Amino acid sequence: MARKPMMAGNWKMNNTVGEAVVLTQEISNQYEKEWPESLDIVICPPYVDLKPAKTVLDFDKTKIAVGAQNVYWEASGAYTGEISVPMIKEIGCACSIVGHSERRELFGETNEDVNRKVKALVEAGLYAIVCVGESLAVRDEGTTEEYVCAQVRAAFAGVDARDAETCVVAYEPIWAIGTGRTATPEQAEAVCAAIRATLAELFGDETAEAMRVLYGGSMNPGNVDGLMAQPNIDGGLVGGASLKCESFVQLIEACL
Ligand code: G3P
Repeated sequence: MARKPMMAGNWKMNNTVGEAVVLTQEISNQYEKEWPESLDIVICPPYVDLKPAKTVLDFDKTKIAVGAQNVYWEASGAYTGEISVPMIKEIGCACSIVGHSERRELFGETNEDVNRKVKALVEAGLYAIVCVGESLAVRDEGTTEEYVCAQVRAAFAGVDARDAETCVVAYEPIWAIGTGRTATPEQAEAVCAAIRATLAELFGDETAEAMRVLYGGSMNPGNVDGLMAQPNIDGGLVGGASLKCESFVQLIEACL
């Protein structure tokens, strides 16, 4: 079956509210008239920018989705600094990134934390963009696919096929994030194919074929075509190149 591509921008800790409104408006203006029905576009601003960005998109009636970059699995309580799924749902988020390598490395997020977040999101009718990916040390050891597929299994433990099908997996080799050293299309395809095979083991072929598997890690207009030409890569989770309207739109156009 043909999967609908997705281009998602992870803004990370960038853009004050004013800058976020300007960037969102620039991107929205590109598609105010001829909306590209053939792919899903998601922007993931910092928490403080989520509602302002959603307000711009709603005003323009542009069907770009807004997602969080992280979320906590409890609905409320004494969790200083955290944001809940009900909170991001209330302001119109469709999803949240979970398990980004920066959260795993810098904030000690575990596979079990990621699984709790996936469950909290799907239980609320939202979906997760689940980040998985290996370090250079793991790649050099030759255990990349084993490592990444173990992350996939852990993320979806106890999740049923119907809920999993709404979710997205983003393969982001840690050594490619923010480095300009993008995985080759062949490297990325090999891991994304292994991810899809693991999803098939977990949920059956039909669900695995329906789920999107994205690539992230220095994706840019110069390498997107080679990556998107791969059968098991359905789009991108983009950092740096999503912070400028021009480059993000070039990535979107590559999916049309
Ligand atoms: O989540 C996407 C991000 O990790 C990729 O960052 O700047 O390498 O595109 P970048």
